[in-house]
Amino acid sequence: MDQTQPIQDLFANNRRWVAAMTQTDPEFFRKRARPAEPHFLFIGCSDSRVPADQLTGTTPGELFVHRNIANQVFTSDLNMLSVLQYAVEILKVENVIVCGHYGCAGVQAAADTAPLGLVDNWLGNIRNVMRLHRGELEAITDPAARLRRLVDLNVIEQVYNLSQTPVAQRAWRRGARLLLHGLVYELEEGLLKALALGIDAPEKAEALAHSNHHG
Ligand code: CO
Repeated sequence: MDQTQPIQDLFANNRRWVAAMTQTDPEFFRKRARPAEPHFLFIGCSDSRVPADQLTGTTPGELFVHRNIANQVFTSDLNMLSVLQYAVEILKVENVIVCGHYGCAGVQAAADTAPLGLVDNWLGNIRNVMRLHRGELEAITDPAARLRRLVDLNVIEQVYNLSQTPVAQRAWRRGARLLLHGLVYELEEGLLKALALGIDAPEKAEALAHSNHHG
């Protein structure tokens, strides 16, 4: 058996996609090869079931994307910070989205105690979210509902973390328009839900984090 077959399939898919797109619009690729002016930075989970552009119905050039396990925003993550800085300061993106999803294996793993290796270090942030919201989470008796709430709280915490980055703080200090949004994607229905929209000042981020710290 040809070991490269799975990759060959991708090339075949790619050629079919090019044919389909150019049939609808012969200029499709030429238009999109021009310098892009995306209006959104999308920070999502690496999960293969959460394709940023498909689920937002956007085409190439519209979304600047950063994905990692469980859509984390660490204020010490050079990769995420570089994407954020480039998006906000160079591309002038005004909307930054953190998008979580239900059924997130990263969030599930953080809630479990079984060790997984290096990824446990990455998920430590979510364990802090669990500690911050222990009272609320423990009051939810249905384990599936508790996990969904943890997914929501994780998104809200990452929106707050975004507000704490030098990039966001600088943007707001100089009076630039920068809106942070927290969304969650429902895998089984394909629908996006808003958790927090239009956070455009440090006080609003504080209020968002605070309003979710008890209940
Ligand atoms: Co996930």
